[in-house]
Amino acid sequence: MQFEVIATCNTTRARVCRMKLAHGVTMLPTFMPVATQAAIKGLTSEQVESLGITLILNNTYHLNLRPGVKPLDEVGGAHQFQGWSRNLLTDSGGFQLVSLSKFTQITEEGALFSSPFTGEPTMLTPEQSISIQHSIGADIIMQLDDVVSSLTVGPRVAEAMERSVRWLDRCIVHHEQSGRQDRQNLFAIVQGGLDPDLRERCLQAMVARKDHVAGYAIGGLSGGEEKGTIKQCAEGLPSDRPRYAMGIGFAEDLLVCVALGVDMADCVFPTRTARFGVALTFNGPLNLRLRKHAKAMEPIDEHCPCPTCRSEMSRAMLHHIVTIETAGAHAVTQHNLVFQAQVMGYARDAIIEERFPDYLRTFFANYFGNQG
Ligand code: GUN
Ligand code: ZN
Repeated sequence: MQFEVIATCNTTRARVCRMKLAHGVTMLPTFMPVATQAAIKGLTSEQVESLGITLILNNTYHLNLRPGVKPLDEVGGAHQFQGWSRNLLTDSGGFQLVSLSKFTQITEEGALFSSPFTGEPTMLTPEQSISIQHSIGADIIMQLDDVVSSLTVGPRVAEAMERSVRWLDRCIVHHEQSGRQDRQNLFAIVQGGLDPDLRERCLQAMVARKDHVAGYAIGGLSGGEEKGTIKQCAEGLPSDRPRYAMGIGFAEDLLVCVALGVDMADCVFPTRTARFGVALTFNGPLNLRLRKHAKAMEPIDEHCPCPTCRSEMSRAMLHHIVTIETAGAHAVTQHNLVFQAQVMGYARDAIIEERFPDYLRTFFANYFGNQG
């Protein structure tokens, strides 16, 4: 990976970086759309690329279940499998310890999942997670971490943080033995819940391994409420490595994270909310299912460059089809992904042009000042 800081804001910790991976350049800060099952729901890879998106996320746990490693090896990886020629990041499966906690048992060796399809148990170890991510061939791969919900308290939080450090070491060894470090970049994931002392210990341990990791993620968050944790982690991480806030996706949270020094984020929110009929705009979210849109002939946002708005598909039309015809969900999904990309793109422009605080003020005034 080539990673270069291009510009920094002089009043916040926001920065613009250029990250060059095996499948091209991605400018940071960036929002990564989530393609859990090797597809952004409703869109082809070609459509996603035509929106200007250069980095998406797949999930190791899900791709290992279906299609599995064998077909991925046969076609030469997930890029080929999904017809995606730009950059790809895979999450390790660690998050499924929380999202599928009813089906998992955790040991020092790894996470034992029972298949939601067959009930059959499968062990996911740090080494296996890395091996699967090698078969997937993602440009950025994540360590397997021991994740607890941000609501968890007590000794389990410390245990999960310490285990995440031990699992990072196993991931590093396995990755470095593979000889793939030139094409696939391993990221560590800082854990420790909402406890500043645990976060500090995790930061120290993981920063000490800096020569063996290409970047860092901040994990264990579940939305935007834990700004103190993000601030502490972003400040404690080295400035010559990208910083990735996992699972952050509301525009207002993205911008606060960027101001705190975060470079990357991902979330299912913009694509999921589209399927429920909500279009994101700079004047706040627009619930297209509401009857007030039934006769509105204007597009979601007349200034928006997305294919949906450029084709002048009306709010009325979208109101009519959004939750009953898949084409409606696809149209709003494309709009929402362009919106997220614009929030981050405007942030990059503002940082470079030394007016990032102004952009923040304008964004928040518009986003919360109007009724959508
Ligand atoms: N996605 C959102 N949060 C997390 C996390 O803490 N770990 C992993 N692996 N994925 C996540
Ligand atoms: Zn649009």
